[in-house]
Amino acid sequence: MPRPTLLLTRVLPEAVEARAARDYVIRRPEGPDRTLEPGALLAAAQGCDGIFCAAGDGLDAATIACLPDSIRVIATFSVGTDHIALDAAKARGIPVTNTPDVLSVATAEIGMLLILMCARRAGEAERLVRAREWTGWAPTQLMGVTLEGKRLGILGMGRIGQELARMGRGMGMRIHYRNRTRLTPQEEQGAVFHGSDDSFLAACDVLSMHIPGGAATKHWLDAGRIAKLPRGAIVVNTGRGTTVDDAALCDALRSGHLRAAGLDVFAGEPAIFEGYHTTPNLTLLPHLGSATIETRDAMGFRCLDNIDAVLIHSTEPPHRVG
Ligand code: DGY
Repeated sequence: MPRPTLLLTRVLPEAVEARAARDYVIRRPEGPDRTLEPGALLAAAQGCDGIFCAAGDGLDAATIACLPDSIRVIATFSVGTDHIALDAAKARGIPVTNTPDVLSVATAEIGMLLILMCARRAGEAERLVRAREWTGWAPTQLMGVTLEGKRLGILGMGRIGQELARMGRGMGMRIHYRNRTRLTPQEEQGAVFHGSDDSFLAACDVLSMHIPGGAATKHWLDAGRIAKLPRGAIVVNTGRGTTVDDAALCDALRSGHLRAAGLDVFAGEPAIFEGYHTTPNLTLLPHLGSATIETRDAMGFRCLDNIDAVLIHSTEPPHRVG
């Protein structure tokens, strides 16, 4: 049987590339490795049987409607699926799969890294030393806050949120959470569930955001909700950038209502809100959540397991989301 043809929209870790090349004829888009615009994606998909895409690739409804009939699966190298019009794929009968579980610890680590950087002003400190402006140790220099005993509020208590809760407990933090549904006592491990935004926000010394992108969550953290956080709170986002009103966050950081913020994701990335460049009490990372060798390999293998199921074994893919 001839090997199916697979479009790889991005350059993948070596082990993932090797397995893909072993089992498929590989197609690639023209040009450098970057998020694919719909036009480039459609051009590259001609003659392919499946698409192995990544976060940010342009798979909106119009693009999916124009995909060639030969496409039998779309596997995204991400847990988030906000870049794919799932309804449009369903209408075309194309299964869509993602990569759950394998990136939970890595993403929670980046969440905790940002929390620590915010609490201890590590971004500002690193910039100071790098700029040759450090004049020596001083009793009042760059004082932060201790995390032990503080309340960590987790918005979205899925797999990543639960891993972060585990890490927060290890730091001596008290865990609060807001979620569509309440977890079981075993999953909660003593975390306090909040049934309303108001009570949740008031309980966040640190707010860590883990909600998906899309229209329903756009600007969830707006000026009104920021005002309900305690003065001096820290905000961290490792979910999707669209869930934060950038201008409102900047204003709250500059006014001192918020102590600091740490962002790994941005609306319209890699472009970021202009005001972020000049806001000092802000740590910015380039969407590193899942960026460990172990995790990226596992994500790639998960994609290929899903693609193999459809294109080689003609079975249901294990991680179907649409
Ligand atoms: C995800 O998996 O959704 C990450 O944000 C992108 O890698």
